[in-house]
Amino acid sequence: MADNRAIGIFDSGVGGLTVTREIIRLLPQENVVYFGDVGRTPYGGRSREIITHFTRQDITFLMEQNVKFIICACNTASAVALEEISQDYSTPMTGVIKPGAKAAVEITKNGNIGVIGTLATINSNAYAKQIHNIDPKLKVYSLACPLFVPMVEEGYTDKEATFLIARDYLHTMHDVEIDTLVLGCTHYSLLKNVISDAMGDKIQLVESGVEISKSVYQYLADNNMMNTQTLQKPGPTGERKFFVSDVPDKFTNLASRFLGTEIENATRIDISEY
Ligand code: DGL
Repeated sequence: MADNRAIGIFDSGVGGLTVTREIIRLLPQENVVYFGDVGRTPYGGRSREIITHFTRQDITFLMEQNVKFIICACNTASAVALEEISQDYSTPMTGVIKPGAKAAVEITKNGNIGVIGTLATINSNAYAKQIHNIDPKLKVYSLACPLFVPMVEEGYTDKEATFLIARDYLHTMHDVEIDTLVLGCTHYSLLKNVISDAMGDKIQLVESGVEISKSVYQYLADNNMMNTQTLQKPGPTGERKFFVSDVPDKFTNLASRFLGTEIENATRIDISEY
C-alpha cells in the first residue's frame, strides 16, 4: 500500500517555505501542495478568533486539493488554532509545536529552555504546555520577538541593526541561563547567525521545520503512506504546487531565500470563498 496524494502545507505567508524546504529535503519523492496566506499575513499579532477563522479556511482549501496529510507550518496557527480545528477532520494533520517541544526536551541538559515566537504564539503558552506535558520539572522562558518577521522579509538578516535588536531582545535569556532555544516561528531559521551571535554558540537552537519533517517522515512510514510512484524515476522528485491569497509577486520574489530554490509561479486563489 502507498498513498500517492500530495502533502498539504500551509502558512500565514512565505515563512512556511522554510518548513517546506525541510520536507522536500527529507521526502523528495512526495508531491506537495503549499498554500501561503500572503493576503492576510502576518497572523502573529492577531486575536485567537481571527487566527482560528483564517486557519480553518486554509485547511478547507487544502482539503479540497485532496491531500493525504496536512502540515501547519505556521507556529502561530499551530499554537492557537490547530488543536481545536483538527478534531473536525479525519485527515491527519500536525503542527510545529509538538515536534519542536519534544526536541527541546531531548536536547536540554540543565533543564532551562527558552522559546521565542510571535506575540500570539508566546501568549498562547503552547510550547511551555507541551514541554511541561513531557516533563513538568523543566523551566521554560518565553519571549515574543515581533520585529524579527518584518526584518527577515525585508532582507535584514545580516545587518548591524538586526544584530543590535537581537541582542536587545534576547539579553533576558542570558540571565535565566537557558541552554536550549526553540525558534518558534517560521522566519527565525533565517536569523540563526544573528541569534547565535546574541546567545553565544553554546546554546542549542531548535528549528521547527527540521523537527516537524522528521515526525512527518515517521508518520508516513509507519502508516504506509509514502508516495511510491515518483520513486520509479531516477532522482525522485514529487510535483510542487504553490497557491497564495494575493498577487504572487512578493511571494515568488522572497521564495528562494526561504525555500532554497526558485518558484516559477504561484496561483492566486480567493481564500474568502473557503
Ligand atoms: N508564520 C508565522 C509563525 O510561524 C510568522 C508570520 C506571521 O506572524 O504570520 O508564527
